[in-house]
This record gives sequence, C-alpha cells and structure tokens, in this order.
Amino acid sequence: MKTLRLHDTPADIALAARLLREGETVAFPTETVYGLGADARQEAAVRQIFAAKGRPADNPLIVHIAGVEMLPEIASEIPEIAVRLAEVFFPGPLTMVLPKRQDIPDVTSGGLGTVGIRMPSHPVARALLREAGCPVAAPSANRSGKPSPTTAAHVLDDMDGRIAAVLDGGSCEGGVESTVIRFMDAETIHILRPGLISAEMLRPYAARVIIDKAVYEQLPDGARAASPGMKYKHYAPQAKLLPVDAPDFAQFSEWVQAHAAAGDWCLLFDADPEVTGIPSLRYGDTGEEQAHLLFRRFRELDEAGAKTVYVRMPQRSGAALSVYNRLMRAAGFEVITL
Ligand code: TXA
Ligand code: MG
Repeated sequence: MKTLRLHDTPADIALAARLLREGETVAFPTETVYGLGADARQEAAVRQIFAAKGRPADNPLIVHIAGVEMLPEIASEIPEIAVRLAEVFFPGPLTMVLPKRQDIPDVTSGGLGTVGIRMPSHPVARALLREAGCPVAAPSANRSGKPSPTTAAHVLDDMDGRIAAVLDGGSCEGGVESTVIRFMDAETIHILRPGLISAEMLRPYAARVIIDKAVYEQLPDGARAASPGMKYKHYAPQAKLLPVDAPDFAQFSEWVQAHAAAGDWCLLFDADPEVTGIPSLRYGDTGEEQAHLLFRRFRELDEAGAKTVYVRMPQRSGAALSVYNRLMRAAGFEVITL
C-alpha cells in the first residue's frame, strides 16, 4: 500500500475524511499523540488498525468524537458525573470509559461491553472528525510496543506502506496519551491510565479519585487488567532504560559514573549539570515538559544507538505521574533506588 502524505489544508482534510468514510485507515494529529483512525462502526476498517499496528485483539480502542452531542451515539448510559466532566474537560486529553451501544462493534471495544470515548482538542483532529461525520476509533499510530508518535515522521517510521494516509499537523503539544478513567459509582473516578488531566485536576469534580495499581507496578502474570492496554510492555525504545531514583543529582551522577559502560547515555532534567564523561539528552523539569519530550527522546536515544539509558526519575504527582508511568512501563518496572 502506498501511504499518502497529507497536510493541514482544507482539501487534504476533506480527502482524509473521505478515506475514513470509505473504510480506510488514516493517521492524524491530536493534542496528545498521533492516532491511527478508522470509522469505529466499520468492522473491516477497524480490523485494519489492529493489522497495521500488530495490536492484540483484546486491547480496546478509543472512539473519538467531534462534539459532546455524539456521546449518546456511542455510549448506552451516560452518568451525571460523565456529563459534568465532559463540560469541563472536553475537548481535551481525557478518555471516559462508558457502557457501549450495541452498534459499536466488538472488535472496536476489544470484546468489552464498555468503550473509551474522547473528544480531542487539536484543531486538525476536530476538523477531520467534523468532516468525516463518523465516530473514529484511534489508538496511538505506532507499531505495538513502540513509543507513541508525536510527529508525522514518527508515524511514517512505523507505518509507511501499512496505512492509507498520514495527515501532518506538526508536532503534538501534549506528548503522552490521554488520561483514561472509568466510574466506579456515581461519585468515584478510577484512573486507569494517567495523562495530562491529572488526579489533582479531577478531584474537585468527584467525591473520590482512585488511581489504579497498574499505574505504579507491574501486574502479576495472569492478572486481569482494568484497562487491557496496561498489561502490555509498552512505549519501549530499543535501548535498555534504567530509571535511577536518587535523592539528588550528585548521588545520581556518582552512581551512574560508577556503573556506566561505553554506549550508555543519561536522560536528565534541564536543571541538571552534566554527568562527566557520559553523553546525555534532557527532557525538561516540569511534568508537562517531560510529557511533551519523553517519547521523542526515546526515539532519539535509539537513533544515537544508546545501550543503557540512566534516567532521572519524574515526580509521582500531577502531570508528571503520566511520565512516571510511561517510563516505568518502558523499563519493565525495574528501577534503581539509591
Ligand atoms: O491520547 C490518546 O488517548 C491517544 C490519541 C490517539 O487519542 N490514543 C491512545 O490510544 O492512546 P491507545 O489505543 O494507544 O490506548 C488506549 C488505552 C489502552 O490502554 C486501552 O486498554 C484503554 O485505553 N481502553 C480503551 N477502551 C477501554 C475500555 N473499554 N476499558 C478499559 N480500558 C480501555
Ligand atoms: Mg498506544
């Protein structure tokens, strides 16, 4: 298959929308990462997403909508708390898991009776969804197990020749995937995957906000994940990642210098000085900066041929929790604690 390169123009957006309606797969930018879209109601089209990504069939897709008025077309029940959250956080990087309507095929929801729904805020995504007129199922547009793409070039690295088109909308601002939540009862939010909409931001809108254990630790073999995607090793670069949880930079640097070999790199905060003798990249100081850069840095470290990468640990709160989670999963939850 030849993958069309499309741009952020009305004519190209119209063409991408037509391809989606005709049952083709199109990668497009969102405010988080690039998604690989297909009409959520066309089974054959959705199957092409799984084939192009090499994605396990039990890992459900997120359905993207153009407006809140489309919620009842996807979800069979919309609790009041979901309406409240949609008012505040849609459009934006929040996915709500709700009971699904029968006409959303099982292939889209990975066989589950629920479906993740999100309304992206990226102007190109919004224009595409409006023009397509259908709900669009879209996982991140990487090959399964690779870091999520934040530029059209990353999408093509993984997907050239496997999808109908990529719509280039520049680099994604967010950088990590949306926050995925479900509702345990009328007043309890359960965070299945942390994102830039943090637990702290959700707290004013619910009596309780609970963060799933799988955000912090590896699920035991055979355990059933509340969010199937969380059980897969993910986002991994080829290099071995080793997060080093050190009280300060001096101790980090001392430990790394004692253990690093030729070909090893560091991933540092912007405020850190150099680790003498060891090449490094930087990924910001705040959770938002780190989220924006993390997956890009993973790809750059692979291009540099890094063997082991010693990473300064992000915080476990706010937006940084999403960075912590992606990093820990990429590292297989192995961490050096000093
Ligand atoms: O920011 C994002 O969410 C991006 C952009 C493209 O929108 N999409 C994305 O999709 O990250 P994906 O497929 O890479 O991740 C979807 C996550 C998976 O962890 C999946 O298990 C979870 O959402 N998920 C989807 N539907 C679910 C459901 N019904 N119940 C529980 N978890 C669900
Ligand atoms: Mg993904």
